[in-house]
Amino acid sequence: MAIRNIRTKGDPILKLKSRRVEKFDRRLFTLLDDMRDTMYEADGCGLAAVQVGVLKRVVVIDVGEGLLELINPEIAEVKGEQCAAEGCLSLPGESGVTLRPMWVRVCAQNRNGETVEYTGEGLLARAFCHEIDHLDGHLYTERLAPAAVIDRIRAENPNWEE
Ligand code: NI
Repeated sequence: MAIRNIRTKGDPILKLKSRRVEKFDRRLFTLLDDMRDTMYEADGCGLAAVQVGVLKRVVVIDVGEGLLELINPEIAEVKGEQCAAEGCLSLPGESGVTLRPMWVRVCAQNRNGETVEYTGEGLLARAFCHEIDHLDGHLYTERLAPAAVIDRIRAENPNWEE
């Protein structure tokens, strides 16, 4: 097990676009294993390779339903919308309310290069969008919900909490 250093706010690598993975080899397995350990150690529910300084399209996610490994993931379909507080291991101690799809379908590859497909709703949908955004150099701070949307949701859901 190896914990890697998580890059934080201000590190220019976080704005760069990651490259597709072409080789499904031992080096990739080590990266995935280290990313998993680093995510659990930091108590996060998702981590993209760029956050540990590796510009490859690799993501790990665990929202409490088990570990998912996604190589070269793409959002294939989205439905609905949701507004909820979101944080990021690269922006420690911060959070913001984002506007995301409520449901997504994701196509990716697993560590053996086989095609896999996942669907996620709610928190899992947010995690897919958040991590895939990282691969294109985007942070959740670029997806903040406009104040008008937050006001509308608050009006429609009296018990809604950020
Ligand atoms: Ni993040």
